[in-house]
Amino acid sequence: MIGQDILVAKNYLEKGELVAIPTETVYGLAGNALNEDAVIKIFTVKQRPSFDPLIVHTDSWEKVSQFVSYIPEQATLLAQHLVPGAITFLLPKKSIVPDLVTSGLPLVAVRIPAHRLALELLQSLDFPLAAPSANPFGYISPTTAQHVAQQLGDKIPYILDGGACQIGVESTIIGFEDNVPTIYRKGGIAIEVIENLIGKVQLQEHSSSNPKAPGQLKSHYAPHTPFELLDRGTLLARLHEISPKDTAILAFRDYVPAVPIANQRVLSPKGSFSEAAHHLFAYMRELDALGCKCILAEQLPDIDLGRAINDRLRRAAAK
Ligand code: TXA
Ligand code: MG
Repeated sequence: MIGQDILVAKNYLEKGELVAIPTETVYGLAGNALNEDAVIKIFTVKQRPSFDPLIVHTDSWEKVSQFVSYIPEQATLLAQHLVPGAITFLLPKKSIVPDLVTSGLPLVAVRIPAHRLALELLQSLDFPLAAPSANPFGYISPTTAQHVAQQLGDKIPYILDGGACQIGVESTIIGFEDNVPTIYRKGGIAIEVIENLIGKVQLQEHSSSNPKAPGQLKSHYAPHTPFELLDRGTLLARLHEISPKDTAILAFRDYVPAVPIANQRVLSPKGSFSEAAHHLFAYMRELDALGCKCILAEQLPDIDLGRAINDRLRRAAAK
């Protein structure tokens, strides 16, 4: 069922059931993070491998110390400016957090989402919520309650509808091992914003075999239709080689010639990265549903949120 009733969501969660919740990034598939049975349900419903750890969501930075044993200064500084928001902190976990949540890792991922309904719900609970994105493992993340309903509607009792997610890409993940701030996933808070606050950060290169953050798995966020990521020039050239009417286009600012307009989505006519991020996953789903032979996506400039968007497009295109 889809609804806007926080009390209904709270009741299911207190019984150990799962509820899909809105956040400012993407919808989450939430369960009591301190209840192992609920955590197992999350992995089962999402068909997620157990080696891929979950983010723990809470409603205030003060509460974070209930779950973690140490908070580096740089994390505190970032939190002062960016929390609640689209940033996830990897911090040493306390034993109250089940090993299942962190896939046995000594660090737990913690995030405070900036969404009114999510925060009200979290405030009303006396436990934090473990929540991965509410999509089947490997598919595009959901940014509306309807996206969740399409794929998980028959597997969970309630979807809390908070409208379309404002940001539209997942949180930025940052860790502080050996006191070196390191980005493990590019996301809704741009690296430039983080570097303005704490100086240069390291970027963890992807490894598909033993990922630190399996959101880093090379193939992820993948539509069912074959998907190619190209710069605009190459994309326009490619249109001469294939049948334009069987092709779908995901463009940044402008439509391309020859391909029917119905097969095209433009992420942001005015060239805004935040508008592009907001539309990204919904447009990928719409194009995937057209049943075209392939989707050609245009690469964005690699700055600001363009980096997180390119990262998702690259993974969607990876075999
Ligand atoms: O914006 C978001 O972060 C959304 C919303 C719902 O909060 N959540 C989300 O969760 O994207 P998920 O599970 O789809 O992606 C979480 C990523 C995974 O790639 C996971 O591997 C990584 O966080 N992660 C979680 N705990 C970790 C840990 N202890 N160490 C390293 N990576 C971790
Ligand atoms: Mg995910």
